[in-house]
Amino acid sequence: MSAIRVENLTKRYGETVALDDVSFEIEEGEFVVVLGISGSGKSTLLRCINGLAAPTEGAVYVQDEPVTSHRNDVSMVFQQHNVIEGMSAYSNALTGALSRADYLESVLRFNDREDKIKALEALETVGLLDEAEQRAGRMSGGQQQRVGIARALVQESDILLADEPVASLDPGSAQTVMGYLRSAAEQRGLTAMISLHQVNLARQFGQRFIGLADGKLVFDGYGDELTLDVIDELYGGIDMEEFLSTGDDKREATQ
Ligand SMILES: Nc1ncnc2c1ncn2[C@@H]1O[C@H](COP(=O)(O)OP(=O)(O)OP(=O)(O)O)[C@@H](O)[C@H]1O
Ligand SMILES: [Mg+2]
Repeated sequence: MSAIRVENLTKRYGETVALDDVSFEIEEGEFVVVLGISGSGKSTLLRCINGLAAPTEGAVYVQDEPVTSHRNDVSMVFQQHNVIEGMSAYSNALTGALSRADYLESVLRFNDREDKIKALEALETVGLLDEAEQRAGRMSGGQQQRVGIARALVQESDILLADEPVASLDPGSAQTVMGYLRSAAEQRGLTAMISLHQVNLARQFGQRFIGLADGKLVFDGYGDELTLDVIDELYGGIDMEEFLSTGDDKREATQ
């Protein structure tokens, strides 16, 4: 059984073709980075996988079931941290348990001992156990994003999607957050699909890469198969050295 199967997926918004006959299959436990310039279809692809957007043609299957509406068993981390600033890191993480329950169940669940343990475990996974009681609003952007990841982990989905989870962070924090995302996925055996702008981070953390251009799948490969030529093709005509550098650590990009 594949974790995610995308079959001849086309998504149109009026005249705009956001995704154009995209097909691929992802096995359980893979850590996949989605690459492509702005407008290439990355967000649309992730939204079709968790059922937030419906295919115009083709189909998406998660664990062999067709995705027909929003799925709670696929958790999503967004670019903006989306944490509740007035609540502690711990309470934010705990809300992940609520999103998989219905309303009445949620009310009862808020005091569920098992959920509380899960929230603490998730905070530990993202290195924030010592900050559990801190108000999210007082935390740095990177820490807030880790709280967002903890909340997604508490949902206990087998599939974790993240749409540019580090786009608004400085290079150092982006690196830290990606590190936690990758180790969390590994520890918990999750299948992950992460869209990224930063090619250097993609190369550092990605295991498999899916490249989109104009809504078409133009690359699908593992590790070293993502060569500079492929990147050049995906991002065409850019200053490669500048593009690959993080600003803070130029050596990183050339390793
Ligand atoms: N809800 C929508 N309504 C109309 N057009 C849309 C909608 N969502 C996406 N599009 C269009 O579909 C194309 C793909 O957009 P998408 O947001 O998936 O790209 P992206 O790769 O995520 O870009 P970015 O890197 O800027 O986030 C773009 O041309 C975009 O304008
Ligand atoms: Mg996007």
